[in-house]
Amino acid sequence: MSLKTPVIVLNVKSYEESMGERGLALALACEEVTAETGVVTAICPQMVDLAWIARQVKVPVFSQNTDIYEPGSCTGWTVAEAVKEAGAIGTLLNHSEHRLRLDVIEHVISKNKGLGLVSIVCTNNTPVTRAAAALGPEMVAIEPPELIGSGISVSKAQPEIVEDAVSAVKKINPGVKVLCGAGISTGEDVKAALALGAEGVLLASGVVKAANPKAALLDLAGGI
Ligand code: G3P
Repeated sequence: MSLKTPVIVLNVKSYEESMGERGLALALACEEVTAETGVVTAICPQMVDLAWIARQVKVPVFSQNTDIYEPGSCTGWTVAEAVKEAGAIGTLLNHSEHRLRLDVIEHVISKNKGLGLVSIVCTNNTPVTRAAAALGPEMVAIEPPELIGSGISVSKAQPEIVEDAVSAVKKINPGVKVLCGAGISTGEDVKAALALGAEGVLLASGVVKAANPKAALLDLAGGI
């Protein structure tokens, strides 16, 4: 499996606005925007909605996290095999709101590769981005935590962190693609991200909390 770029990845987190039917509506909005604009979108539904939503949309679906464990007696954890069976093509790992140990990240990336699942590893700064790139995921997503949910776009407020991440990753492992996220909410933010060398964006509140999520997605797609 692979995820085409440039891409808009929507992580719906655990917001009230993205639970159940509202999560499906967000996934369908992604599907419509891709159909209307040709811009690749992907969605990370709430974990409890993953299989249900993946069955109903054509856009790529990602898990918000995958744990290190094997199928079997491990209550409450999410195993990669189940993520695949649910219809996801990959997983976010190490999100700022769900940090993982380096050895866990390495193990899950490697296991995902064996299963044909795409790993997107989130990072918070350049050194962590370097470490993540060295592990060989398909993508890293640089997200300064202080801008997450702020409405202040990383691509405009901290362009240097995106540029540094891109240049660090390309030195270490040129095959790894770089996304950026935190505060991205408009097409201008996306345009700025791509101009800095990012191959897409990872975002949440700008769409999930928008009065009209489809209109927000269309605006974002306009930046590509
Ligand atoms: O996973 C996306 C993320 O952490 C950015 O959140 O709300 O700033 O777009 P937001």
